[in-house]
Amino acid sequence: MHLALSDRTLSLSLNRYPQFANANLQAWDAADEYLLKQLLESELAFSKVAIINDSFGALTCALTQQFPQTSLFVETDNKTSQLGTIANLEANQLVQDNIEWLNSREDLPENIDLVLMKLPKNLNYFAHQLSRLSQVLKQETKVLIAAKAKNINKSVIELIKQQLGEASASLAWKKCRVITCVTDGTKRNAPNNTHWEIPEYQLQLNNFSNVFAANKLDIGARALLQFFPKGDFSNIVDLGCGNGVLGLRAAQIFPNANIHFVDDSEMAVASAQNNWQLNGFDLAKGHFHWDDCLTNLDSEVKPDLVICNPPFHQGEAITDHIAWQMFLDAKRKLVQGGVLHVVGNRHLGYHIKLKRLFGNCKTVGSNGKFVVLQSVKDA
Ligand SMILES: C[S@@+](CC[C@H](N)C(=O)[O-])C[C@H]1O[C@@H](n2cnc3c(N)ncnc32)[C@H](O)[C@@H]1O
Repeated sequence: MHLALSDRTLSLSLNRYPQFANANLQAWDAADEYLLKQLLESELAFSKVAIINDSFGALTCALTQQFPQTSLFVETDNKTSQLGTIANLEANQLVQDNIEWLNSREDLPENIDLVLMKLPKNLNYFAHQLSRLSQVLKQETKVLIAAKAKNINKSVIELIKQQLGEASASLAWKKCRVITCVTDGTKRNAPNNTHWEIPEYQLQLNNFSNVFAANKLDIGARALLQFFPKGDFSNIVDLGCGNGVLGLRAAQIFPNANIHFVDDSEMAVASAQNNWQLNGFDLAKGHFHWDDCLTNLDSEVKPDLVICNPPFHQGEAITDHIAWQMFLDAKRKLVQGGVLHVVGNRHLGYHIKLKRLFGNCKTVGSNGKFVVLQSVKDA
Protein backbone atom coordinates (compact mmCIF):
# COMPACT_ATOMS: atom_id res chain seq x y z
CA MET A 1 0.00 0.00 0.00
CA HIS A 2 1.46 3.34 -1.00
CA LEU A 3 -0.02 6.76 -0.17
CA ALA A 4 1.82 9.94 -1.15
CA LEU A 5 0.35 12.97 0.63
CA SER A 6 1.54 16.58 0.58
CA ASP A 7 3.84 16.22 3.60
CA ARG A 8 4.03 12.49 4.28
CA THR A 9 4.53 9.21 2.48
CA LEU A 10 3.03 5.99 3.71
CA SER A 11 4.48 2.84 2.26
CA LEU A 12 3.76 -0.68 3.52
CA SER A 13 4.03 -4.17 2.14
CA LEU A 14 0.86 -6.04 3.19
CA ASN A 15 -0.34 -9.61 2.71
CA ARG A 16 -3.62 -11.34 3.40
CA TYR A 17 -3.68 -14.21 5.88
CA PRO A 18 -2.89 -16.97 5.22
CA GLN A 19 -0.36 -15.49 2.85
CA PHE A 20 0.04 -18.27 0.29
CA ALA A 21 -3.61 -18.40 -0.68
CA ASN A 22 -5.24 -16.09 -3.20
CA ALA A 23 -2.14 -14.06 -3.91
CA ASN A 24 -4.27 -12.07 -6.36
CA LEU A 25 -6.53 -10.70 -3.58
CA GLN A 26 -5.37 -7.51 -1.86
CA ALA A 27 -4.83 -7.19 1.91
CA TRP A 28 -6.27 -3.66 2.05
CA ASP A 29 -8.89 -1.66 0.18
CA ALA A 30 -9.64 1.91 -0.89
CA ALA A 31 -11.64 2.47 2.31
CA ASP A 32 -8.44 1.84 4.33
CA GLU A 33 -6.60 4.32 2.10
CA TYR A 34 -9.31 6.97 2.40
CA LEU A 35 -9.46 6.64 6.19
CA LEU A 36 -5.68 7.00 6.46
CA LYS A 37 -5.59 9.87 3.98
CA GLN A 38 -8.23 11.74 6.01
CA LEU A 39 -6.40 11.08 9.25
CA LEU A 40 -2.95 12.05 7.96
CA GLU A 41 -4.27 15.24 6.37
CA SER A 42 -6.18 16.24 9.51
CA GLU A 43 -5.02 18.27 12.49
CA LEU A 44 -6.40 15.72 14.94
CA ALA A 45 -4.43 15.19 18.13
CA PHE A 46 -4.56 11.75 19.74
CA SER A 47 -2.56 9.44 21.96
CA LYS A 48 -4.85 6.42 22.52
CA VAL A 49 -6.50 5.04 19.42
CA ALA A 50 -8.90 2.12 19.07
CA ILE A 51 -8.73 0.30 15.72
CA ILE A 52 -11.75 -1.88 15.03
CA ASN A 53 -12.33 -4.41 12.21
CA ASP A 54 -8.92 -3.95 10.56
CA SER A 55 -8.92 -6.84 8.05
CA PHE A 56 -5.21 -7.70 7.81
CA GLY A 57 -3.55 -4.81 9.63
CA ALA A 58 -3.43 -1.99 7.05
CA LEU A 59 -4.65 0.52 9.66
CA THR A 60 -2.63 -0.90 12.55
CA CYS A 61 0.60 -1.01 10.52
CA ALA A 62 0.05 2.51 9.16
CA LEU A 63 -0.57 3.98 12.63
CA THR A 64 2.40 2.11 14.10
CA GLN A 65 4.64 3.39 11.31
CA GLN A 66 3.42 7.01 11.30
CA PHE A 67 2.75 7.52 15.04
CA PRO A 68 5.04 5.09 16.90
CA GLN A 69 4.37 6.72 20.30
CA THR A 70 0.58 6.29 20.09
CA SER A 71 -1.06 3.51 22.12
CA LEU A 72 -3.23 1.28 19.95
CA PHE A 73 -6.12 -0.94 21.09
CA VAL A 74 -6.80 -3.32 18.23
CA GLU A 75 -10.16 -5.07 18.40
CA THR A 76 -11.12 -7.96 16.14
CA ASP A 77 -13.43 -10.95 16.31
CA ASN A 78 -11.33 -12.94 13.82
CA LYS A 79 -8.22 -14.89 14.72
CA THR A 80 -7.06 -14.71 11.08
CA SER A 81 -7.21 -10.88 11.19
CA GLN A 82 -5.13 -10.83 14.35
CA LEU A 83 -2.59 -13.30 12.92
CA GLY A 84 -2.50 -11.40 9.60
CA THR A 85 -1.94 -8.08 11.37
CA ILE A 86 0.90 -9.54 13.46
CA ALA A 87 2.50 -11.05 10.33
CA ASN A 88 2.27 -7.69 8.50
CA LEU A 89 3.73 -5.78 11.46
CA GLU A 90 6.65 -8.20 11.47
CA ALA A 91 7.09 -8.07 7.69
CA ASN A 92 7.35 -4.26 7.87
CA GLN A 93 9.70 -4.36 10.90
CA LEU A 94 7.18 -2.48 13.03
CA VAL A 95 7.51 -2.75 16.81
CA GLN A 96 4.40 -4.02 18.60
CA ASP A 97 5.16 -2.62 22.07
CA ASN A 98 2.32 -0.06 21.97
CA ILE A 99 -0.37 -2.47 20.84
CA GLU A 100 -2.96 -4.12 23.04
CA TRP A 101 -5.09 -6.84 21.40
CA LEU A 102 -8.77 -7.20 22.25
CA ASN A 103 -11.40 -9.60 21.06
CA SER A 104 -14.92 -8.41 20.32
CA ARG A 105 -16.24 -9.05 23.84
CA GLU A 106 -13.40 -7.70 25.99
CA ASP A 107 -13.88 -4.27 27.53
CA LEU A 108 -12.25 -1.36 25.76
CA PRO A 109 -10.31 1.06 27.97
CA GLU A 110 -12.00 4.31 29.01
CA ASN A 111 -9.43 6.85 27.87
CA ILE A 112 -9.51 6.35 24.10
CA ASP A 113 -9.37 9.67 22.24
CA LEU A 114 -9.90 8.46 18.64
CA VAL A 115 -11.54 5.45 17.00
CA LEU A 116 -10.76 4.19 13.48
CA MET A 117 -13.20 1.61 12.24
CA LYS A 118 -14.14 -0.32 9.11
CA LEU A 119 -17.85 -0.92 8.62
CA PRO A 120 -18.52 -4.67 9.04
CA LYS A 121 -20.90 -6.51 6.71
CA ASN A 122 -23.11 -7.61 9.60
CA LEU A 123 -25.08 -4.58 10.86
CA ASN A 124 -26.25 -6.32 14.06
CA TYR A 125 -22.61 -6.80 14.93
CA PHE A 126 -21.95 -3.15 14.03
CA ALA A 127 -24.77 -2.03 16.37
CA HIS A 128 -23.21 -4.16 19.10
CA GLN A 129 -19.78 -2.61 18.50
CA LEU A 130 -21.22 0.92 18.61
CA SER A 131 -23.02 0.23 21.88
CA ARG A 132 -19.73 -1.11 23.34
CA LEU A 133 -18.01 2.12 22.29
CA SER A 134 -20.81 4.18 23.86
CA GLN A 135 -20.00 2.50 27.18
CA VAL A 136 -16.45 3.90 27.29
CA LEU A 137 -16.04 6.94 25.02
CA LYS A 138 -16.18 10.41 26.51
CA GLN A 139 -18.36 13.08 24.94
CA GLU A 140 -16.89 14.74 21.80
CA THR A 141 -14.64 11.78 20.88
CA LYS A 142 -14.24 11.32 17.12
CA VAL A 143 -15.05 7.98 15.53
CA LEU A 144 -14.08 7.61 11.84
CA ILE A 145 -15.82 4.76 10.03
CA ALA A 146 -14.77 3.85 6.48
CA ALA A 147 -16.64 1.76 3.94
CA LYS A 148 -17.51 1.38 0.29
CA ALA A 149 -19.96 4.16 -0.60
CA LYS A 150 -22.54 1.59 -1.75
CA ASN A 151 -22.67 0.13 1.78
CA ILE A 152 -23.39 3.46 3.46
CA ASN A 153 -27.05 4.44 3.41
CA LYS A 154 -29.47 6.38 5.58
CA SER A 155 -30.10 3.48 7.94
CA VAL A 156 -26.36 3.05 8.64
CA ILE A 157 -26.07 6.76 9.51
CA GLU A 158 -29.24 6.53 11.64
CA LEU A 159 -27.86 3.50 13.47
CA ILE A 160 -24.67 5.41 14.32
CA LYS A 161 -26.69 8.40 15.55
CA GLN A 162 -28.89 6.11 17.67
CA GLN A 163 -25.99 4.19 19.21
CA LEU A 164 -23.23 6.79 19.52
CA GLY A 165 -23.86 10.40 18.40
CA GLU A 166 -24.13 12.82 15.46
CA ALA A 167 -22.72 11.42 12.22
CA SER A 168 -22.18 12.55 8.65
CA ALA A 169 -20.49 11.01 5.61
CA SER A 170 -17.68 12.55 3.53
CA LEU A 171 -17.71 12.96 -0.22
CA ALA A 172 -16.85 9.80 -2.14
CA TRP A 173 -13.23 9.02 -3.09
CA LYS A 174 -12.37 5.86 -5.07
CA LYS A 175 -16.02 4.80 -4.46
CA CYS A 176 -15.56 4.95 -0.65
CA ARG A 177 -16.70 7.31 2.08
CA VAL A 178 -15.62 8.04 5.64
CA ILE A 179 -18.32 8.69 8.23
CA THR A 180 -17.33 11.02 11.05
CA CYS A 181 -19.24 10.52 14.28
CA VAL A 182 -18.87 12.75 17.32
CA THR A 183 -19.92 10.92 20.46
CA ASP A 184 -22.60 12.35 22.75
CA GLY A 185 -21.28 10.59 25.88
CA THR A 186 -24.50 8.64 26.58
CA LYS A 187 -24.10 4.93 27.39
CA ARG A 188 -26.26 2.49 25.40
CA ASN A 189 -27.04 -1.12 26.28
CA ALA A 190 -25.83 -3.87 23.97
CA PRO A 191 -28.57 -5.42 21.82
CA ASN A 192 -29.78 -8.82 23.07
CA ASN A 193 -28.29 -12.03 21.69
CA THR A 194 -30.59 -13.87 19.31
CA HIS A 195 -32.22 -17.04 20.58
CA TRP A 196 -33.86 -19.84 18.56
CA GLU A 197 -34.65 -23.52 18.85
CA ILE A 198 -34.54 -26.67 16.74
CA PRO A 199 -37.56 -28.52 18.11
CA GLU A 200 -36.90 -31.77 16.22
CA TYR A 201 -33.49 -32.11 17.94
CA GLN A 202 -34.52 -30.40 21.19
CA LEU A 203 -31.67 -27.93 20.95
CA GLN A 204 -31.67 -24.30 22.03
CA LEU A 205 -29.27 -21.83 20.45
CA ASN A 206 -28.05 -18.42 21.57
CA ASN A 207 -26.01 -16.41 19.06
CA PHE A 208 -23.74 -13.49 19.86
CA SER A 209 -24.06 -10.73 17.28
CA ASN A 210 -21.28 -11.77 14.85
CA VAL A 211 -22.16 -15.45 14.62
CA PHE A 212 -23.21 -17.27 11.44
CA ALA A 213 -26.91 -18.30 11.21
CA ALA A 214 -28.17 -15.54 13.49
CA ASN A 215 -31.87 -16.44 13.52
CA LYS A 216 -32.31 -19.94 12.17
CA LEU A 217 -30.63 -23.18 11.23
CA ASP A 218 -28.46 -22.90 8.11
CA ILE A 219 -29.76 -25.09 5.27
CA GLY A 220 -26.36 -26.71 4.81
CA ALA A 221 -26.21 -27.52 8.54
CA ARG A 222 -29.73 -28.97 8.26
CA ALA A 223 -28.56 -31.33 5.52
CA LEU A 224 -25.57 -32.42 7.61
CA LEU A 225 -27.82 -33.06 10.64
CA GLN A 226 -30.10 -35.18 8.45
CA PHE A 227 -27.18 -37.34 7.24
CA PHE A 228 -25.18 -37.42 10.47
CA PRO A 229 -22.14 -39.72 10.75
CA LYS A 230 -22.77 -43.22 12.04
CA GLY A 231 -20.21 -45.16 14.06
CA ASP A 232 -18.51 -45.10 17.40
CA PHE A 233 -16.58 -41.88 17.98
CA SER A 234 -14.84 -40.61 21.10
CA ASN A 235 -12.96 -37.45 20.02
CA ILE A 236 -14.94 -35.20 17.76
CA VAL A 237 -14.03 -31.80 16.26
CA ASP A 238 -16.72 -29.38 15.08
CA LEU A 239 -14.54 -27.37 12.67
CA GLY A 240 -15.93 -23.87 11.92
CA CYS A 241 -18.46 -24.45 14.68
CA GLY A 242 -20.45 -21.18 14.53
CA ASN A 243 -22.99 -21.46 17.37
CA GLY A 244 -21.94 -25.10 17.81
CA VAL A 245 -25.08 -26.72 16.42
CA LEU A 246 -23.25 -29.67 14.80
CA GLY A 247 -21.11 -30.42 17.84
CA LEU A 248 -24.14 -30.19 20.14
CA ARG A 249 -25.94 -32.78 18.02
CA ALA A 250 -22.80 -34.94 18.14
CA ALA A 251 -22.88 -34.72 21.94
CA GLN A 252 -26.49 -36.00 21.93
CA ILE A 253 -25.65 -38.97 19.70
CA PHE A 254 -22.22 -39.80 21.20
CA PRO A 255 -22.68 -38.84 24.89
CA ASN A 256 -19.30 -40.25 25.97
CA ALA A 257 -17.29 -38.34 23.37
CA ASN A 258 -15.15 -35.27 23.97
CA ILE A 259 -16.25 -32.54 21.59
CA HIS A 260 -13.87 -29.78 20.41
CA PHE A 261 -15.44 -26.62 19.00
CA VAL A 262 -13.16 -24.49 16.78
CA ASP A 263 -13.85 -21.20 15.01
CA ASP A 264 -12.03 -18.15 13.65
CA SER A 265 -14.72 -15.95 15.27
CA GLU A 266 -14.30 -15.47 19.01
CA MET A 267 -18.02 -14.76 19.31
CA ALA A 268 -18.76 -18.08 17.60
CA VAL A 269 -16.61 -19.99 20.08
CA ALA A 270 -18.22 -18.10 22.97
CA SER A 271 -21.70 -18.87 21.60
CA ALA A 272 -20.86 -22.56 21.25
CA GLN A 273 -19.63 -22.62 24.86
CA ASN A 274 -22.72 -20.78 26.00
CA ASN A 275 -24.94 -23.25 24.10
CA TRP A 276 -23.09 -26.24 25.54
CA GLN A 277 -24.08 -25.07 29.01
CA LEU A 278 -27.56 -23.95 27.97
CA ASN A 279 -28.35 -27.45 26.67
CA GLY A 280 -27.02 -29.11 29.82
CA PHE A 281 -24.05 -31.06 28.43
CA ASP A 282 -21.24 -32.38 30.64
CA LEU A 283 -18.90 -29.39 31.17
CA ALA A 284 -15.84 -31.65 31.26
CA LYS A 285 -16.49 -32.97 27.75
CA GLY A 286 -16.83 -29.66 25.86
CA HIS A 287 -13.62 -27.92 24.67
CA PHE A 288 -13.51 -24.53 22.97
CA HIS A 289 -10.80 -23.09 20.73
CA TRP A 290 -10.48 -19.67 19.05
CA ASP A 291 -8.21 -20.62 16.17
CA ASP A 292 -7.49 -20.49 12.44
CA CYS A 293 -8.64 -23.98 11.41
CA LEU A 294 -6.68 -26.53 13.50
CA THR A 295 -3.39 -24.58 13.59
CA ASN A 296 -3.05 -24.72 17.37
CA LEU A 297 -5.07 -27.81 18.30
CA ASP A 298 -3.10 -29.59 21.01
CA SER A 299 -1.23 -32.65 19.74
CA GLU A 300 -2.79 -34.57 22.68
CA VAL A 301 -6.18 -34.25 20.97
CA LYS A 302 -6.59 -37.17 18.56
CA PRO A 303 -9.85 -36.75 16.65
CA ASP A 304 -11.60 -39.77 15.14
CA LEU A 305 -14.31 -37.58 13.59
CA VAL A 306 -14.24 -34.04 12.16
CA ILE A 307 -17.61 -32.55 11.19
CA CYS A 308 -17.56 -29.46 9.03
CA ASN A 309 -19.83 -27.02 7.20
CA PRO A 310 -17.05 -24.92 5.64
CA PRO A 311 -17.24 -21.21 4.79
CA PHE A 312 -16.97 -20.21 1.14
CA HIS A 313 -15.91 -16.61 1.66
CA GLN A 314 -13.39 -14.60 3.69
CA GLY A 315 -14.83 -11.15 4.44
CA GLU A 316 -16.21 -10.00 1.10
CA ALA A 317 -14.01 -12.28 -1.00
CA ILE A 318 -15.58 -15.51 -2.30
CA THR A 319 -12.92 -18.17 -1.90
CA ASP A 320 -12.58 -21.87 -1.16
CA HIS A 321 -9.13 -21.61 0.39
CA ILE A 322 -10.50 -21.86 3.95
CA ALA A 323 -12.41 -25.05 3.09
CA TRP A 324 -9.22 -26.47 1.58
CA GLN A 325 -7.23 -25.49 4.68
CA MET A 326 -9.88 -27.15 6.86
CA PHE A 327 -9.64 -30.39 4.83
CA LEU A 328 -5.82 -30.35 5.03
CA ASP A 329 -5.87 -29.75 8.78
CA ALA A 330 -8.49 -32.46 9.31
CA LYS A 331 -6.36 -34.96 7.39
CA ARG A 332 -3.28 -33.97 9.43
CA LYS A 333 -5.05 -34.29 12.79
CA LEU A 334 -7.33 -37.30 12.30
CA VAL A 335 -6.22 -40.66 13.67
CA GLN A 336 -5.73 -43.53 11.23
CA GLY A 337 -9.22 -44.61 10.11
CA GLY A 338 -10.69 -41.27 11.31
CA VAL A 339 -13.51 -39.68 9.35
CA LEU A 340 -14.01 -36.23 7.84
CA HIS A 341 -17.74 -35.54 7.38
CA VAL A 342 -18.51 -32.45 5.27
CA VAL A 343 -21.54 -30.69 3.85
CA GLY A 344 -21.24 -28.45 0.80
CA ASN A 345 -23.25 -26.78 -1.87
CA ARG A 346 -23.32 -29.19 -4.84
CA HIS A 347 -21.68 -26.74 -7.25
CA LEU A 348 -18.60 -26.27 -5.01
CA GLY A 349 -17.20 -29.63 -6.06
CA TYR A 350 -15.73 -30.55 -2.65
CA HIS A 351 -15.74 -34.24 -3.64
CA ILE A 352 -12.92 -33.57 -6.13
CA LYS A 353 -10.78 -31.90 -3.44
CA LEU A 354 -11.53 -34.62 -0.87
CA LYS A 355 -10.78 -37.44 -3.32
CA ARG A 356 -7.48 -35.77 -4.22
CA LEU A 357 -6.51 -35.33 -0.57
CA PHE A 358 -7.75 -38.55 1.06
CA GLY A 359 -7.80 -40.86 -1.98
CA ASN A 360 -11.46 -41.63 -1.20
CA CYS A 361 -14.75 -39.80 -0.86
CA LYS A 362 -18.28 -41.14 -0.67
CA THR A 363 -21.59 -39.33 -0.82
CA VAL A 364 -23.61 -40.22 2.29
CA GLY A 365 -26.63 -38.08 1.49
CA SER A 366 -27.89 -35.29 -0.73
CA ASN A 367 -30.80 -33.05 -1.51
CA GLY A 368 -31.42 -30.64 -4.40
CA LYS A 369 -28.81 -28.18 -3.22
CA PHE A 370 -26.36 -29.90 -0.86
CA VAL A 371 -24.22 -33.03 -0.72
CA VAL A 372 -22.92 -34.62 2.47
CA LEU A 373 -19.54 -36.24 1.85
CA GLN A 374 -17.28 -38.48 3.86
CA SER A 375 -13.57 -39.26 3.53
CA VAL A 376 -11.61 -41.70 5.67
CA LYS A 377 -7.93 -41.18 6.52
CA ASP A 378 -5.84 -43.95 4.94
CA ALA A 379 -8.87 -46.12 4.28
C1 LIG B 1 -20.82 -22.04 7.08
S1 LIG B 1 -20.40 -21.52 8.71
C2 LIG B 1 -20.87 -22.97 9.65
C3 LIG B 1 -21.22 -22.68 11.08
C4 LIG B 1 -21.87 -23.86 11.83
N1 LIG B 1 -20.96 -25.01 11.85
C5 LIG B 1 -23.19 -24.23 11.16
O1 LIG B 1 -23.19 -25.26 10.48
O2 LIG B 1 -24.16 -23.49 11.34
C6 LIG B 1 -18.63 -21.57 8.66
C7 LIG B 1 -17.92 -21.19 9.95
O3 LIG B 1 -16.50 -21.27 9.72
C8 LIG B 1 -15.88 -20.25 10.46
N2 LIG B 1 -14.54 -19.96 9.90
C9 LIG B 1 -14.21 -19.15 8.86
N3 LIG B 1 -12.88 -19.16 8.67
C10 LIG B 1 -12.36 -19.99 9.59
C11 LIG B 1 -11.02 -20.38 9.92
N4 LIG B 1 -9.98 -19.93 9.22
N5 LIG B 1 -10.84 -21.22 10.96
C12 LIG B 1 -11.89 -21.68 11.69
N6 LIG B 1 -13.18 -21.32 11.42
C13 LIG B 1 -13.41 -20.50 10.39
C14 LIG B 1 -16.85 -19.07 10.35
O4 LIG B 1 -16.61 -18.12 11.37
C15 LIG B 1 -18.20 -19.78 10.46
O5 LIG B 1 -18.64 -19.84 11.80
